[in-house]
Amino acid sequence: MTAKHRGAQADASAPAGALVPPAAIKRITWLRDELNHHIYQYYVLDAPIIPDVEYDALFRELQDLEFKYPSLRDVDSPTQRVGGEPAPFESAESMQRGLPMVVRHTVPMLSLNNAFSDEDVVGFDRRCLNGLEKDPANEDVEYACELKFDGLAISLRYENGRLMQAATRGDGEAGEDVTVNVRTIKTIPLKLKGDVPSVLEVRGEVFMYRRDFDKLNERQLSAGEKTFVNPRNAAAGSLRQLDPRVTAQRRLSFFAYGTGDTVGFQRPRTHSEMMDVLVNFGLPVCTERVVVRGAYGLLSFYEDVGKLRDGLAYDIDGVVYKVNAFAEQEKLGFVSRAPRFALAHKFPAQEMTTTVDKIEVQVGRTGAITPVARLRPVFVGGVTVTNATLHNEDEIRRKDVRAGDTVIVRRAGDVIPEVVAVVFERRPEDTKPFSMPKVCPICGSHIERLEGEAIARCTGGLICGAQRKQALLHFAQRRAMDIEGLGEKLVDQLVEQGIVRTPADLYKLGLVALASLDRMAEKSAMNLKAAIDASRERPLARFIFALGIRQVGESTAKDLANHFGKLESLMSASEEALLEVRDVGRVVAQSIWNFFSEEHNRQVIDDLLAAGVKPVETEPFAKAPAPLSGKTFVLTGTLPTLSREDAKELLEAAGAKVAGSVSKKTDYVVAGAEAGSKLDKAEALGVPVLDEAGMLALLAQAGAAPAEE
Ligand code: IVH
Repeated sequence: MTAKHRGAQADASAPAGALVPPAAIKRITWLRDELNHHIYQYYVLDAPIIPDVEYDALFRELQDLEFKYPSLRDVDSPTQRVGGEPAPFESAESMQRGLPMVVRHTVPMLSLNNAFSDEDVVGFDRRCLNGLEKDPANEDVEYACELKFDGLAISLRYENGRLMQAATRGDGEAGEDVTVNVRTIKTIPLKLKGDVPSVLEVRGEVFMYRRDFDKLNERQLSAGEKTFVNPRNAAAGSLRQLDPRVTAQRRLSFFAYGTGDTVGFQRPRTHSEMMDVLVNFGLPVCTERVVVRGAYGLLSFYEDVGKLRDGLAYDIDGVVYKVNAFAEQEKLGFVSRAPRFALAHKFPAQEMTTTVDKIEVQVGRTGAITPVARLRPVFVGGVTVTNATLHNEDEIRRKDVRAGDTVIVRRAGDVIPEVVAVVFERRPEDTKPFSMPKVCPICGSHIERLEGEAIARCTGGLICGAQRKQALLHFAQRRAMDIEGLGEKLVDQLVEQGIVRTPADLYKLGLVALASLDRMAEKSAMNLKAAIDASRERPLARFIFALGIRQVGESTAKDLANHFGKLESLMSASEEALLEVRDVGRVVAQSIWNFFSEEHNRQVIDDLLAAGVKPVETEPFAKAPAPLSGKTFVLTGTLPTLSREDAKELLEAAGAKVAGSVSKKTDYVVAGAEAGSKLDKAEALGVPVLDEAGMLALLAQAGAAPAEE
């Protein structure tokens, strides 16, 4: 839904008191119902039935009619959901202090008792059985089970089906008036459907979908504003905005989970039926809810939801159990601020605070350098966490994480624990910003960070312990040195037992050493030895690819082999020389140059050659000096058979340079039909002019003409 609030309009509104044509009234009513229906389909059911452009057209039509007939304007119109003026204040004093209006809850908003273990749940069920005077041997209690949404509680007051007021929970007795902001939340109906009671207070949770949270943070980041730690904080911050236009842009959502005050309402028998009634009123109620019996039913629900948790589109921090029959709820009653009939069964917290002892860097299998925070151990997401990733240099700088800081650590599901934010209020004095080390902590090679990349990498490649297994597997793969039978399991053993450190060590492996490996029969040891021996003579291109130089894939390796012909020439090529290779740009050239400047890498190559590896070298493209090298050509006009591009390619293949303009340094101008000023200039400067045939003759003479067909 992309309809934007429209500003000043060209069309003048009808004069006050002017008669409103009945057709306009009918149309406005229809448009509002229609738009409300589409809002419900889109935001509540996630199943839009018309494309956005059509919705926008209906929306604009309604806006125009409301502008034209001011007497028909209505705060409940879908056009009013884009956020109007900032919230009104209770008094001049509260306005000065920026305090919002206070709302007293007719029915208090209570909190829930928490359970953290199965025993707590069994105890709850037993207390319910006792309180309801049921025989535990023959009877059980029926419960409604729901998710515990991780947002903030609000109460919505509908009078005769119209949303009149929305308030936060506050201290349970009174909260803040957030009506204008809540009216911007598209999943909350401004008008209820069906046969509605005169008063209905709906209680539920305002929250933010993870995808909306991610988008919000992306927007904050690109606007240079502070990001939110989690969807809950983002939801709370957005709901309590002073300017509802900001709230409107934040995409909040809502799930109803109960009711407060009601007047003129025939309450159903159970909580689960009540939820169905709310659905029929057009309110969003989460579909992940079931009715179960006894403690076993509760614990199975908890287990099922636990498996579902990470896959949900929003955060939950547990599940909620409610005795289903209202009569039984009333019988159980309350104890201080919480009902005896309900219980929140919490999941292990996914976020906790702890302190950073130090920041170190880790080297991954591909040489990626990841800064890691070493933490004071903390129980989060169900495990004790002592390390959390800081992702990369930019991320550390953005979050400004330092050794000594108190931080919020998050571990959700199987995801690697991460530091989400620093608690700056608790930063000790004398902390220093983190700086990336210059050399790899494992092998001492340089750390490079290529332009435009977020990740810094160790250039140690072949010799870096952290990258060894990966480097060996890459070296041995079919498209590289093609050593059949040398797979992951073997490489693991060879490296872990210290038998092989670099690819050169492979060629020193004897049969005895191979046969001593786990699950290696004599026959397979012989096969592997034969495969290693056979790989000694592979084409140079494969050998270059096998080295695992960053940015050098199979096709660049081929280009390098063709261009340089010899390994030695490649190894001693300057960055400029590398740039001359087809398709090699600055980033690739730099990466190749860095690789060969690393003494360790040269050593491994020497060792490989010493161990009898003999890359089959190819003739370089430009072995004999190119026939037209050093000559500069300028092309002008339309040639009779060759396109400009073809002519250029032929000349360049013969070593010539093709320039764009004629100067004294131009050796030949090749002119076709309708040649213009370039031809004049050539004649003025006395530069020889050729036609296409002349050019081809010159190429043939130089031994570089295209073969006759
Ligand atoms: S029922 C009298 N149901 O958890 C019971 N609460 O500590 C009133 N919450 O402030 C709450 N999901 O914000 C209920 N399905 C759910 C819930 C839920 C989240 C929150 C709510 C409340 C807190 C209770």
